[in-house]
Amino acid sequence: MDDYDNVYDDHLRARSYSRLSFPGTYYLAFRDLPLLIDKYVEGREALDFGCGTGRSTRFLQALGFTATGVDISEPMLREARKLDPEGDYRFVGEKGLGGLGGDRFDLILSAFTFDNFPGLQERGKALAGLSSLLDGRGRIISIVSSPEIYVNEWVSFSTRDYPENRDAGSGDRVLIEILGVEDSRPVEDTICTDRDYLELYHGAGLSVLETDRPLAKGDEEIDWVNETEIPPWVIYVLGADSGPGETG
Ligand SMILES: C[S@@+](CC[C@H](N)C(=O)[O-])C[C@H]1O[C@@H](n2cnc3c(N)ncnc32)[C@H](O)[C@@H]1O
Repeated sequence: MDDYDNVYDDHLRARSYSRLSFPGTYYLAFRDLPLLIDKYVEGREALDFGCGTGRSTRFLQALGFTATGVDISEPMLREARKLDPEGDYRFVGEKGLGGLGGDRFDLILSAFTFDNFPGLQERGKALAGLSSLLDGRGRIISIVSSPEIYVNEWVSFSTRDYPENRDAGSGDRVLIEILGVEDSRPVEDTICTDRDYLELYHGAGLSVLETDRPLAKGDEEIDWVNETEIPPWVIYVLGADSGPGETG
């Protein structure tokens, strides 16, 4: 990923992101995690892959995990350390995940990190690297944007200024704006379909144990836009191949 221009490697974006908690559409990405974790995760050693400013790492800490956050953006890590000086936030530079040495994890959480990858091949490589860091029965929980997020309006996101998103296929660049934050510049992601994620998991020796597509119930105190009808996120629970998994 040498020539990859990470949109999060930016001070203004990092400061803006550090003020986000779990508002609006983001609430749905985290709502089901405690239940999924209870169901699938045994120990309490966690890696937060793409921890950003540490929102997802602190979420894991609050659930009782010893959580190590890793990221490729120093500005994001700097904000994480400011918000949580006692936390363990590490830069994964050239050595990538290899720098984590012999650490083994019961849970690896990836919250929105793969959205931000430049292409599909890079996702595959990273998934194989993550898989090698799992403790025997460890699990990866990966929250990604559904392709629909890029062509609809949401409480926390807008895509109306980017009609070209509609023509984007897997591996193509798309733009999306986070609403209600200081930095209104769009975030650049690359789309990846469910079918391609399944192929990538298979290639990395991972089985899908459960797929969650969280929808709003409608009784929350939030004026939803499309969130009761269209799932903005896909949450994959993955384990190293060892038996029959769910595939669809
Ligand atoms: C959308 S932010 C999410 C941050 C955090 N997980 C959260 O939920 O608030 C995605 C983060 O993934 C990081 N990232 C992108 N590619 C990465 C990679 N190859 N390794 C580690 N972090 C990566 C970005 O720098 C960015 O901080």
